[in-house]
Amino acid sequence: MKVLVAAPLEPFLRRTVVPPGIEVELLAEGAALPEGEYVGIVPLLTRRLGEAELGRLPGLRIVANFAVGFDNVDVAAARARGIAVSNTPGVLTEATAELTWALILAAARRVPEGEALVRGGEWTGWAPTQLLAMGLGGKVLGLLGAGRIAQAVARRAPAFGLRVRYWSRTRRPAWEAECGVEWRALAALLAEADVLSLHLALSPETERIIGREALARMKAGAVLVNTARGGLVDEEALVAALRSGRLRAAGLDVYAAEPLVPPGLRELPNVVLLPHLGSATEEARQGMWDLAWQNLLRVLSGGEPLTPVIEGR
Ligand code: GLV
Repeated sequence: MKVLVAAPLEPFLRRTVVPPGIEVELLAEGAALPEGEYVGIVPLLTRRLGEAELGRLPGLRIVANFAVGFDNVDVAAARARGIAVSNTPGVLTEATAELTWALILAAARRVPEGEALVRGGEWTGWAPTQLLAMGLGGKVLGLLGAGRIAQAVARRAPAFGLRVRYWSRTRRPAWEAECGVEWRALAALLAEADVLSLHLALSPETERIIGREALARMKAGAVLVNTARGGLVDEEALVAALRSGRLRAAGLDVYAAEPLVPPGLRELPNVVLLPHLGSATEEARQGMWDLAWQNLLRVLSGGEPLTPVIEGR
């Protein structure tokens, strides 16, 4: 049984026992999919697997995505072909929540601006009004989404004195009762949040959910943080909102057309820009590999993935 594994995953593969009967072929990033009787694939989130791509792999039984997000996979096309799709939830939750807080803190407290001052040799000493920022205590953290990562971000909020409000299509009464978070309608959340953090999957319903209109509804001087998917935000509208000062700052880990980061964003001092590092800890990435590999093996041995997006046939 031949399986394709994204070539950058080779360091994990090297430490993995490949059961007899399975033959792994590495798939270079950017290389076209080979045609052939491959039964499984472990792709990165950067590989689009749409109808045309799945059509090149007629023997495919599982797409074991190396990511919790699966917007790179056409799930409907996979379902129609009886192909299972799995993702890697859970193992990267804490890592992504940590990075979200890194961005909240860095954006609110102007960390990159301060660092640039020191590195540039321009710092002349402590000054009472230098780089004054927004304190977090007593403020409102607004979360779009209520999944694992949103909840892990919320868990850390009391330590910084923030109250948590959230919007998601499905309310979570148990979470609300346990953790004191409150649901808000989307427009109300946008108006109330001092820090708005995005934790939604990217889909046709959520694409550009933070567009011109939503940005105009946001509280003046708010901070926007995105560790989910760049496509949730209209980047051009965000640049305008940051330039005008309507938004205080943004912390971004993801972009609509990675690795392209709009020049308008790169020019702004009040934006913290990271290169999609949400799950980039040794622990999380190993966990993602272990889970993706197990999902693949389980389907190839006739079972179901541990963490299915769809189960296949
Ligand atoms: C990373 O962005 C992931 O979806 O795992």
